[in-house]
This record gives sequence, C-alpha cells and structure tokens, in this order.
Amino acid sequence: QKNGYDHFMLKEIFEQPNTIEQSFKGRIKTDNSDIVLGGLHNVMPKLMDARRLIIIGCGTSWHAGLVGEYLFEEYCRIPVEVEYASEFRYRNPIIDEDDVVIAISQSGETADTLAAVKLAKERGATVLGICNVVGSSIPRETDGGVYIHAGVEIGVASTKAFTAQVTILTMMAALLGKERGKLSLEDYRVIIQELSEVPEKIKTILKTTDHIRKVADKYKDAVNALYLGRGALFPVALEGALKLKEVSYLHAEGYAAAEMKHGPIALVDDNLPVVVVAAKDRYYEKVVSNIQEVKARKGNIIAVVSEGDTQLDKMCDDIFEIPRSHPAVAPLLTIIPLQLFAYYVAILRGTDVDQPRNLAKSVTVE
Ligand code: M6R
Repeated sequence: QKNGYDHFMLKEIFEQPNTIEQSFKGRIKTDNSDIVLGGLHNVMPKLMDARRLIIIGCGTSWHAGLVGEYLFEEYCRIPVEVEYASEFRYRNPIIDEDDVVIAISQSGETADTLAAVKLAKERGATVLGICNVVGSSIPRETDGGVYIHAGVEIGVASTKAFTAQVTILTMMAALLGKERGKLSLEDYRVIIQELSEVPEKIKTILKTTDHIRKVADKYKDAVNALYLGRGALFPVALEGALKLKEVSYLHAEGYAAAEMKHGPIALVDDNLPVVVVAAKDRYYEKVVSNIQEVKARKGNIIAVVSEGDTQLDKMCDDIFEIPRSHPAVAPLLTIIPLQLFAYYVAILRGTDVDQPRNLAKSVTVE
C-alpha cells in the first residue's frame, strides 16, 4: 500500500527516518553507550583477526559497500576491497582464510552476489551478509550477518535499503574499530550519538521537498548530469547519479570530484547540471575548488551543503541544505535530497518511477 503517497518510491524515501531507526533499534543501547550486533557474535573472533575485508554487491548495494570501505578504513584501519560481485566471481579472485567477505544485497537473491558468496566460502573465507529479505538465499549461505530491517522495498529504485545498509555498515565499522582498539571509546560514543540523531535530521530534510521539486523542474530537460563528491561522499555521488538514470532516463555520471579534470570537465557548459555533494568535512575546501572550476566554465551547480554554509550559497545556482553532522553519518543525510531530486525529475518527465523500463527489482539472471 502506498499510504497516500503517489508512488512507492516517494513513500519509501519518506519512510527512512523510521527504517533507519529500525536498523539500529535494539542494536544501539538506549543510553547510546554501546552497539550490539547479535548476528556477528559467532564471527567476531574472525573479524578481530581479519587481515582484509572484501565487500561485494551490485548496483546500489555496491555503492553502500563503497561507503563502507571509507568507514572501515577510517575507523578500523583494515584494508578493504569493494568489488562488483559479477567481476569478483569470474576473476579467479585471491581469497584466503584471513579474509572476511561481506555480501550486501537488499533482496538476498541477486544471482551474481549469491554465486560470489558461494565461491568465497569454497575458498575458505568467512562470509557475512547484510541483507533485507529475511530467509533469502544469501543469508542462508553466510556464516553470519546483520539484517537491515528496512521492511519490504517495492520501488525498483532502491532508497530505504541503501540508507539501512549504510546504517549497518556504520555500526559495524564503529564496533569493530572500538574492539580492535583503533577507535577511542569517546569517538565511538560520538558516532553512536550521531547515528541516533539521523532520523530527526532526515525529517528536517524531508520538509524541503517543495524546494527540491522546484529545482528539479529547472533541470528536467537537461540531457546529461554530472555528480561529484569526495571521500565517503563520492559513493553518494555515484548513488545519486544512478537514481537519476534509473527513474528519469536522464544520463548521469558520478565521479570522484578530483577526477573531473581528467576528462569529464570537457562536458561542462551552460547546459550541464553538476550536482556536488559538499558537506562540511575535511575535503570541503577541495570541493569548493572543484565548484569554482565548474563555474568558470559556466556549468550549473546544484550543491548539497551543510546548513548555514553561506560561502557556497553565493557560489552555486541551487542549494539543498542538510543539517550539520559528523562525517561518519554524512552519507546517510546527503543522499536524501538526491533521491528526492531524482524522483521529482522523473515525475516531471513523466516516467514510471516505480517500475522503470528494462529493470527488475531482483536480478536473478547472470
Ligand atoms: O537486491 P540487491 O541489493 O542485491 O540488488 C542489487 C541491484 O540490482 C540493485 O541495487 C539495483 O541497482 C537497484 N535498481 C538500484 O536502485
């Protein structure tokens, strides 16, 4: 049921304050002092000794994995590789018993991810799942894992599953970082506190939909769009671009912002919308330089900025504000306006957002 929303996609975007809370509820202690992930209990010794994490997935789940890479490396200091399941399984990958493989899949049925899980198991790795559909094939094959508890996702374009996956990865990275002695207890608790505030902050962003719709109206006839971000917000740029492609059929590319000058800058002219994920973090000044490079070539900048960022206010054509937050949870906030932007562009272009052409909710063919 759409509960009064025009589309499942919009309903699912609006559910995110609740679904994110469901993902951490019962896992974050009520006094925000600790994280308990029961599904990892048996594999905790393996995670403590892991020499490498390999994260596999497809599409949006792969993007969540890329966010995870930044979080695990930052907070646990463990080397991480993120692979498309389809590449991993056919590449004769080097896997050993000290590797922990984490498979991310909303449906738990994606054929390539399932096959990659089986391969990793055969080669002796410990395999974990981060899935939504309880009892689906991937969780049945894994040694442990964490369900994301996002509820049924009907829109073909994944929204609430992405933020729930990232919520789980954030909890896992914080917990493992603390356990492995790489994250201080103080910083660990700051991340837990920040995570617990995410649902309220998303509610604030969801109040800005009228504005996002107006911006979408301005750009709905564009032919191409570029999405840029740095650090853990680079995968957010990739995910924002994928959402736009899937539902509006408008061509969009996500890039690490610094890569722009290695090619995509040739595309910039006064017809190109460039969506920049520019939350206040340690990359901020570099992102501002990238914005100036685009402006100098007359590109149109739509920036996702932290509340009260007047510097970018003046420099950009359009602004989506998000509440200030710790960098660990910025991916969860910055993706929300990009989901809404994709949704409204699609609506205004008249596409079928819940069932875009050529796409299936679960890709069970190889
Ligand atoms: O069920 P999964 O998470 O394994 O699905 C992976 C992809 O097929 C999926 O994320 C796809 O890219 C979505 N349409 C993205 O919105």
